[in-house]
Amino acid sequence: MESDDFRKYGHEVVEWIARYFESVEQYPVKSRLTPGAVKNALPPIPPSGSESFDLFLKDFDEIIMPSITHWQSPNFFAYFPANSSPPSVLAEMLTAALGAQCMIWETSPAAAELEERMMEWLRDMAGLPSSFEGVIQDSASSATLVALITARERVTRYRSNMEGLSGMGRMRVYASKQAHSSVEKGAGVAGIGRENLVRIGVRDDYSIDPAALRKAIEEDISAGFIPCCVVATLGTTGTTAVDSLRAVGEICREKNIWLHVDGALAGTALLLPEMRWMADGIEYVDSIVFNPHKWMFTNFDCSAYFVRDAASLIHTFEILPEYLQTRTRGKVNDYRDWGIPLGRRFRALKLWAVIRSYGVDRLQAMIREHIRLAKMLAELIESEKNFTLMAPVPLSTVCFRYKPEGMSDAAANRLNEKINHTLNDTGRIYLTHTKLEGIYVLRMVTAQTNVSEKHVLQAWEMIRECASALSAEDGAVDID
Ligand SMILES: Cc1ncc(COP(=O)(O)O)c(C=O)c1O
Repeated sequence: MESDDFRKYGHEVVEWIARYFESVEQYPVKSRLTPGAVKNALPPIPPSGSESFDLFLKDFDEIIMPSITHWQSPNFFAYFPANSSPPSVLAEMLTAALGAQCMIWETSPAAAELEERMMEWLRDMAGLPSSFEGVIQDSASSATLVALITARERVTRYRSNMEGLSGMGRMRVYASKQAHSSVEKGAGVAGIGRENLVRIGVRDDYSIDPAALRKAIEEDISAGFIPCCVVATLGTTGTTAVDSLRAVGEICREKNIWLHVDGALAGTALLLPEMRWMADGIEYVDSIVFNPHKWMFTNFDCSAYFVRDAASLIHTFEILPEYLQTRTRGKVNDYRDWGIPLGRRFRALKLWAVIRSYGVDRLQAMIREHIRLAKMLAELIESEKNFTLMAPVPLSTVCFRYKPEGMSDAAANRLNEKINHTLNDTGRIYLTHTKLEGIYVLRMVTAQTNVSEKHVLQAWEMIRECASALSAEDGAVDID
């Protein structure tokens, strides 16, 4: 593509993005297409000659767009958000244009030093201890894997990297029953073994039960296992339960176990002084991850991983082939030594753009508003007949179900599942579910970049109407 064409199409694409942001609410939130529709619309072989970019843009509109789920819609209440924002997108365009591969300081000093400074900004914005050092990882799953591997190395005195795991004893990882599946995946990938993840029971608020954690660790030690890492969660995926870092941390300190904190969504709420109660006990924490790509308006991927002792992280991951020997080694941060991949994208740029464009005050105001909306929705649910709030609402996630009087749990499960699918099929809102002790629970997250009170109230109205229409339709059959 020649420079003039690039300029022409560049303007068109930016115009397209601006229109998209303005009109994203008009699209069906959840794509309604059937499996195979997109693949079948694509030719089985690539073009041998050059095609015009107009054709590419046309197919993008006609083939791709109908099959996109619109995560940037303010009517997206599903999962946890993957928020974007205009400044983030603009910075990402610059990152793509530079195409810098930021594996070591010398391959782009600006990227390494901006990353270092951004991690300091984020650390201070979240009120984390000043001894923590940070690095951007691609995802919370990767960051948790990195934490597990570092914990594994520390407990084996950095021998398992060299000698392998055989003869190292059977290590254990602990996390609550509500912890994210990435912990189990990480335990498997780190060679500790999925079966060596001990799932600890939870209290009524779905946070980890510290007494059960202590008991499990002590029984394991007596049985000859080696406790390696505890993963506490700030904001579990199901209900955003908050594990007590103090209670868990005291046990970890006493038993000399690495404490990693998965704050994938909720870590961003630490920007709010009034939410810092979640970090009580942070002095016991060895590492923590949270995702600006979830709740801090920075498009995927951007996961902030902080460690208390960066030396242990580097000791675990550094490896030095001849071609990566540099004269600056030891004087600068070579972030390839702070995680798994060698190649690294210039992710700090979009974080810089977001933090500067919004400013800390506005970021705080938006996160605060999201939490207010969740609490408002929780109140509406509590005051509505036949609806029940199913978990506390400390953050921006609301778990609830509809169950008319006399209906069995099994019938309510079926009804709520039907409500979920019916609502999502309208294309007007998108919410997802979880299961709590076998109960099907609707789950609504009010943390999308542009969500407002109007959107939450509209969604709530739809949920109420849908629930009563469906239960009137087949309630008599379903009450068993
Ligand atoms: C608590 C928690 N941890 C980890 C993850 C995984 O995040 P990522 O997609 O960044 O790996 C999620 C995803 O929603 C999550 O909710």
